[in-house]
Amino acid sequence: MADTPIAPAGHVRLGSNSGQSMTRREGVAKVTGKANYAADNKPEGLLHAVYLESGIARGKVVSLNTEAALAHPGVVHVMTPENAPSLAVSPDEKPMPFSARMEVLQNNRVRYAGQPIALVLAETLEAATEGTRLLAPEYEEEPARIGFENGETYDPEYVTTGNPPARQVGDLEAERQRAAHTVEVTVDTPLQYHNAMEPHVIIAQWDGDKLTIDMPNQAIGLARAGIATYLGIDPENVTLRSPYLGGGFGSKAVVFGPQYLAMLAAREVGRPVKLVLRRDQMFGPVQHRSATRQTVRIDLDEEGRILALDHHSLSSTSSFDDWLESAANASLSIYASPAIKVSHTGLRVDTGTPGAVRAPGLASGTAALEVAIDAAAYRMKQDPLDFRLLNYAETDPGTGKPFSAKALRECYAEGAARFGWKDRPLEPGQMRDADGYLTGWGVGTALFHAPFFPAKASAVIRSDGSVAAQTSGADMGQGAWTALAQMAADGLGMPADEIEFEIGHSGLPDGSVAGGSAHTASAGGALFAAGSDAVRQVAEIAMNDPESPLYGAGNEGVRASGGRLHRIDDPARGETYAEILTRAGVAEVQGQGRGRREKSAAEQYAMYSHGAVFAEVKIDPDLYQVRVSRLVGAFAAGRIINPRLAKSQLNGGMIWGLSFALHEEGIHDLRSGRPINNDLAGYHVPVLADVPSVESILVEEHDPHANALGIKGVGEIGITGTVGAIANAVWHATGVRPQRYPIHIKDLLEGELARQRG
Ligand code: MOS
Repeated sequence: MADTPIAPAGHVRLGSNSGQSMTRREGVAKVTGKANYAADNKPEGLLHAVYLESGIARGKVVSLNTEAALAHPGVVHVMTPENAPSLAVSPDEKPMPFSARMEVLQNNRVRYAGQPIALVLAETLEAATEGTRLLAPEYEEEPARIGFENGETYDPEYVTTGNPPARQVGDLEAERQRAAHTVEVTVDTPLQYHNAMEPHVIIAQWDGDKLTIDMPNQAIGLARAGIATYLGIDPENVTLRSPYLGGGFGSKAVVFGPQYLAMLAAREVGRPVKLVLRRDQMFGPVQHRSATRQTVRIDLDEEGRILALDHHSLSSTSSFDDWLESAANASLSIYASPAIKVSHTGLRVDTGTPGAVRAPGLASGTAALEVAIDAAAYRMKQDPLDFRLLNYAETDPGTGKPFSAKALRECYAEGAARFGWKDRPLEPGQMRDADGYLTGWGVGTALFHAPFFPAKASAVIRSDGSVAAQTSGADMGQGAWTALAQMAADGLGMPADEIEFEIGHSGLPDGSVAGGSAHTASAGGALFAAGSDAVRQVAEIAMNDPESPLYGAGNEGVRASGGRLHRIDDPARGETYAEILTRAGVAEVQGQGRGRREKSAAEQYAMYSHGAVFAEVKIDPDLYQVRVSRLVGAFAAGRIINPRLAKSQLNGGMIWGLSFALHEEGIHDLRSGRPINNDLAGYHVPVLADVPSVESILVEEHDPHANALGIKGVGEIGITGTVGAIANAVWHATGVRPQRYPIHIKDLLEGELARQRG
């Protein structure tokens, strides 16, 4: 039962729905197939759209056999740069934040392999597919530029979505002068594709100037504004429905060229159009994680204290847009150092543009930093955990600000205890298991920002006692349907399973982006506030009504629980919402809410979730095949709304870290620029057999500053730290320090041979 104080301002008490490990609210609908994903919709008169992708990476399309395609039975329309309608704003403009340059058949240029170069509409998917084949494109081809060696470097104006490309704290040269030891490592991370199980999908239907879209999306408010801008229509005329997503990971926070093509085509032909990206089409127009080549130099004093930390990242982007991984910034906020320099260089290659992939910046950045820290610890002959504690940052090194809360010490301690870290030998190559496998243990520090977005929500209490809450927010599998409903229910003073709850529709108050690990704090905060606002209004009615047992009790004297208000000093004295509203003749009250983060707190404090990840690897001594036999992560992320779902997110993050360390790698042919492994057979991700044991520990942390409810995020932090922990475990097992991800058997064998030669 929820038990919610109704005093609206200043309090941080949630009711008792929050904190419970409730199971997924939409779980039964999903497993029984009742949950309606975008591609499940079949409006009357539907046409299927398939786009043809470029087979070259750079150049021009000089001919397309549209006649042949149109002659194929079932083909209704072929859209090419010759006949494609213009957008209201060029897709090479960036009219709003988070917009990406994209291809919408506005010209015949080719900027990467896999770019849409024509769209075929047909009565069946098969006919549309065959239509694209018949287009038989001819090109004027220029040589593709792929990889660190062939790309063109440049100095970026910004990294990610507007951060400065370089920063410096303290006097690097002066600190280096007094250093006793120097360690430098270079680590490459590959280009990675976020491949949600559900690909990008759209069903677009026009009714005059009104556009209705079924499309999985993480940021409904932004998507709607972007669509209205590019199509030149009123945002009010755009309806976007996105109740369920089969994964997002950042790639569904943006609307891409293929989706715009479907919207334009539906308007051209006056029929609903459905477009579903094939798996191979997910490798191109819908972003990816940049490749990076990072160099980390650490200068140390006699005792092993870091004096200077210098982190440079070269990262890839496309030839036509500027999204760059902010990898080096990882060194700004994890370890104490009197001098820090972080810097970024861009590398233009002929691929699609990268974008935010779960834990942008920090996943790649910590993958390099943690390896350097491990190397520094070994140089000092210190236990890697002791070394991290010696260099613990009490304040944020990059800004000098205090942390809003930081229970990282507790994460190290609880994770180490659970893992059994104290038995770890310092030297590598010392441990073998009973089967003779080389065994190694590594640790990495996890960190992720705790941003906060201006989400809105509404709630209603009706005179029949029923209640509802709404926000446009998105559940991409992370559990928003459940955790957000728990918070809404606490605001409403009701058990979560007794509230009506709605998300995933542009007609609802803008719940902001489900991203940045901020959705629970932002949209959940808004829902709680909206529910509280509705309850406050019911209480006002009761407290001013002489017939109510709550008459004159005052805001501080009343509490809501189970759809009823009662006096705190005498819980027996109270009445239900239905009784109060019915007697007053009020059909319903509407509450509005926004989450709150104090502006002053955001200025004064550095806000992060923290964690420590411990990894055990077992390596075949002959073949050098690596298995991660155990992962233990301990994380402190403020108030946890649903421990079951939070652990699911953290475990999922750690598994992605494992995937980063050992599996994922987007490979492009150097000559053609085409992706080679553009399916889930060639693009490796871990399967269950690769993840025998993963465990996350929720470390208690009270964060009084992050926002009104003290919630931070758990969605992305699990990847950070894990990648380095696994690389460090591989080193501990073998004595070979990995220099690129994914860690290849070949590199370990070569490293071993080099070691034997001395
Ligand atoms: Mo994300 S990469 O914040 O969906």
